[in-house]
Amino acid sequence: MKPVVIYSTHRNNTEKVALAFAQAANCKSIKLTKNFDPSTMLLNEYDLVFLGTGIRGGEPYVELLNFIKEADLGNGKWFMLFMTWAGGGASDKLAYERVKKALEVKDQHLDMEYFICLGQTFGLTRRGRPNDVDIAEAKKWVAEKLK
Ligand SMILES: Cc1cc2nc3c(=O)[nH]c(=O)nc-3n(C[C@H](O)[C@H](O)[C@H](O)COP(=O)(O)O)c2cc1C
Repeated sequence: MKPVVIYSTHRNNTEKVALAFAQAANCKSIKLTKNFDPSTMLLNEYDLVFLGTGIRGGEPYVELLNFIKEADLGNGKWFMLFMTWAGGGASDKLAYERVKKALEVKDQHLDMEYFICLGQTFGLTRRGRPNDVDIAEAKKWVAEKLK
């Protein structure tokens, strides 16, 4: 199995988890920036794609949705989602569904399991998250999936 980590982050919380995933899976990580051109990307060589995003108003980041929409995703790949959030209600479920639907439009399937942990935002709440425990959990989760 050849994995890759593809993620969007606005405040680096998701990036911390993405780097932990890449370390645990011993694979490349690719950050989706505003000017990212999906057509430059070759996904052919990968068969497990970890997709990462923060949550904004119950939505995954638009950079991730654009990537799914515009990239040539090939076929026969296993997609898994990871997210960081502030713990806001059911926004994780909403964001998961959005990513799942975006993949379905491209005839792709999103695994029903996802990894999620808190990420700090403005002010004191969630300060320091993801923390060392979150990062250790993230690595453990990936190792489980790769078994
Ligand atoms: C404008 C804005 C909207 C947000 N909306 C939500 C939300 O709907 N649900 C939630 O749980 N967290 C929400 N958050 C918190 C972020 O998802 C959280 O801080 C996340 O870790 C950010 O990831 P990033 O640092 O990778 O960009 C929001 C944060 C901001 C700044």
